[in-house]
Amino acid sequence: MLENASLKSYHTFGIEVKARFLVEVHSPEELQAFYQDPAFAALPKLILGGGSNVLFTQDFPGLVLVNRLQGIEVLAEDDFEVHLKVASGENWHALVQYCVERNWGGIENLSLIPGTVGAAPMQNIGAYGVEIKEVLEKVEFLNLENFASQTLSNADCQFGYRESIFKHELKGKAFITAVYLKLQKRGHLLKMNYGDIRDKLEEARVNEPGIADISKAVIAIRQSKLPNPAELGNAGSFFKNPIVAETVLHQIQTTHPLVPFYPAGEGLVKVPAGWLIEQSGWKGKRVGNTGSHARQALVLVNYGDAKTEEVRDLAYAIIADVESKFGIRLHPEVNFV
Ligand code: FAD
Ligand code: EPU
Repeated sequence: MLENASLKSYHTFGIEVKARFLVEVHSPEELQAFYQDPAFAALPKLILGGGSNVLFTQDFPGLVLVNRLQGIEVLAEDDFEVHLKVASGENWHALVQYCVERNWGGIENLSLIPGTVGAAPMQNIGAYGVEIKEVLEKVEFLNLENFASQTLSNADCQFGYRESIFKHELKGKAFITAVYLKLQKRGHLLKMNYGDIRDKLEEARVNEPGIADISKAVIAIRQSKLPNPAELGNAGSFFKNPIVAETVLHQIQTTHPLVPFYPAGEGLVKVPAGWLIEQSGWKGKRVGNTGSHARQALVLVNYGDAKTEEVRDLAYAIIADVESKFGIRLHPEVNFV
C-alpha cells in the first residue's frame, strides 16, 4: 500500500498526479478485501489496468487499485477451436503474442494495443477491422455492490464502437476479473482489408500470409504511426471517430471531395477524427508541453512535463475548431478521471 503515491508511471500519458492511496491487487479475494475494508469505505475508488486510456484531471482523492490478476487457462479445445479464460490483469499484447505463437486466430489484428485484458471489453477495443467482441464469449466481474462474482454473455455486454455496458449501466459497479475468448485453430479467415495491411504484406514479400504475418504487419503499421508511450506520453486516439448522417458528409464533400469515410449503418457514416483535426490545422502543432502528434493528429501527446490543464485546454480548442469548421462535435475516447 502506497500513500500519496505518484501516478506518473501508472498511466501512459505520464502526467504528474498523485493518488491518496494505491495498491496492486493480485487476486479477486484481495480485491474484495480492499473494497470491504472500513478504512477505505468512504473513499472513491479507481480501477487501473495499464492506464493507457485515462487522463487524470486532478490528484485522485481515494484508493487506486492496480489490476495484477494473472493467468491464462485453456478451458476446452478441439481440432477447430480453443476456449480460453484469461485473468483481467494479463497484458493484452502478451496474450495476443501467446495466441499468435500457437497459431490461434482471432486477435492478431489487435496486436500491440497497450493495456490489460480486463480493460479490453470496457471500450470493446478495436483495430484494423477487428473488435474484441468478435471473439469474446463472456466477461466475469466482481459486482462491487454485493460482491458476487457474476458473468455477462457477449450479447449482454451491449458492445458497440468503443462502447459497452461497463461504460454506462455498470460504470463504477463492476471490476472485470476475467475474459473468456473463443479462438480458431483451423479454418480461420484472415482479415486483411483494412488500410495498409495488404501493402505491408507485399512490402515484406509475404505471398501466403498466416496469422503471425498479419500480427507482424499490424505491428509495423502501428509503429510507423503511433507514438510509443514509453518515449512520448499519450493515450492513443484521444477522440472517437464521429458517426454522422450521410447528409453531413455530403456537405463536407462539397468543399473536400476526398474526405475519407466508412459506412456505419443505415444512412450513417464514420468520418475519421484524425482527418477532421488535420484539416482544422492542428496536426503536428505543439502548444506548450502538449500537442497533436505529427504522424497521427488524433493522438494528443505529452512532450515531457505537460500539466493536465494543458491537455484538457488543447482538447477543448480542437473540439471547438472542428465544430466551427465542420459542424461535427468530437467526443473523447479517453476516460477523464
Ligand atoms: P486503463 O487505462 O487502465 O483503464 C481504462 C478504463 O477502464 C478506466 O475507466 C478504468 O477504470 C477501467 N478499467 C480498467 N480495468 C478494468 C477492470 N478490470 N474492470 C473494470 N474497469 C476497468 N484502443 C483501441 O481500442 N484500439 C487501439 O488501436 C488502441 N491503440 C492505442 C495505442 C496507444 C499508443 C495507446 C496509448 C492506447 C491505445 N488504445 C487503443 C487505448 C487503450 O490501449 C485501450 O483502451 C486499452 O484497452 C486500455 O487498457 P488499460 O488496461 O490501459 O486500461
Ligand atoms: N487521417 C488523417 N490525418 C491523420 C490521421 C488520420 O487524414 O492525422 C486519416 C487517414 O489518412 C485515414 C483515416 O484518417 O484515411 C483513418 O486513419 P487511421 O487508419 O490511422 O485510423 P484512425 O481512424 O485514426 C482508428 C482507431 C485506432 C486504431 C486504428 C486502426 C478510433 C478512435 N481510433 O484510428 O484506435 O488503432 O483506427 O484500426 O477509432 C485507439 O482507440 O486509441 C486507437 C489508436
